[in-house]
Amino acid sequence: MKIQKSLFLLLFFAVSCTKNDIPTCVDDVALFSLADFPIGVAVSPFELESNSAYRQIVVEQFNRITPGNVFKPDALQPLENDFSFEIADSLVAFANANGKQIHGHTLLWHNQLPSWMNNFSGNRDEWISMMETHIKTVVAHFGNQVKSWDVVNEAFEDNGDFRANIWYQNIGEEYLKLAFELAHEANPDAILFYNDFNIAAKPKKCEAILNHFKKLKNEGVPVHGIGLQLHIFNATPSENKIENAVKAIVNEGFQVHFSEIDISMNLSGGNMQLTDNKLQKQGERMKLLTDIFQNIPENQQFGMTIWGVSDLDSWIPSFFGREDYPLLYDENYEPKPMYCGFLEGLTER
Ligand code: G3I
Repeated sequence: MKIQKSLFLLLFFAVSCTKNDIPTCVDDVALFSLADFPIGVAVSPFELESNSAYRQIVVEQFNRITPGNVFKPDALQPLENDFSFEIADSLVAFANANGKQIHGHTLLWHNQLPSWMNNFSGNRDEWISMMETHIKTVVAHFGNQVKSWDVVNEAFEDNGDFRANIWYQNIGEEYLKLAFELAHEANPDAILFYNDFNIAAKPKKCEAILNHFKKLKNEGVPVHGIGLQLHIFNATPSENKIENAVKAIVNEGFQVHFSEIDISMNLSGGNMQLTDNKLQKQGERMKLLTDIFQNIPENQQFGMTIWGVSDLDSWIPSFFGREDYPLLYDENYEPKPMYCGFLEGLTER
């Protein structure tokens, strides 16, 4: 691995050139071949099927995929007790055919729930039973083809309070513990994650999450890792904040997943001017994330996952109604300085 990296370093600088002072690099070496941990990307099976440039990048550059939407409850159980696995299974088939791992996302959340689930009425036991059916059916269906799961997504508010989602309102905070136990019963081999945003940006949120899952871990509940989504900006959160959050998670013995990386450059919203400087900064941020991740002890490095392939595919512009360019590839599926920053961070090790 080390020799391969040194050779690549030579090649990298040989082909590096400057276009308008922005360093560019080529993407003819697989990112995943440079890393000692999995390099993931969130994907859509529809794009994989219809868009050859998109598919080529996923196949060539990454060795793990996270389904961006098709493993969520509204996709898998659109009607009560009527599961729909066809599209998800097609993604598993793609992963198997191309040697990619799949990280399952996500068993419980407050968004992308089918309307019957949102409107479910029942007592606490009936809610637990409904949750059990969903978790166990989904995890058992995929078995060891999906070896890791985001069991619960975004259960805490930025101030550290529990989010008052349907699970909390109807079951209470014990739903978190139960969800991990049920997923573990359905697949005792799976690596189970709690996943959230703003863990680095909001120290109170990080503290609340860690206190809760530390307590569960000490009670023997099978919680193996924490996913920091890292939907971040060019300038925030600071390097210090990211490092502090990662260190706190590492110190509690959890595996760490940088699970949904994208780097926005438009803090003020609306339209923006895409400048070389902003692109350059984005590349430096990506390298910084890669450096921070590689400082985690190896046995706690679960992987780094980018939340989408190209700027065309990002959820950010439509969700926030702002112009933005948060991913590794531009609208023409050409690598950006952000890609180069990732590659440089992986290569320097
Ligand atoms: O599938 C329909 C399509 O039929 C319809 O024509 C189209 C019109 O808007 O919408 C399509 O659904 C969209 C879906 O993505 C698939 O593209 C939804 O409107 C849209 O809301 C949905 O957005 C997803 C978002 O979660 C929903 O909250 C994003 O793709 C997905 O990337 C995003 O991912 C989340 C993570 O799961 C958790 N962390 C935050 C992250 C970003 O929000």
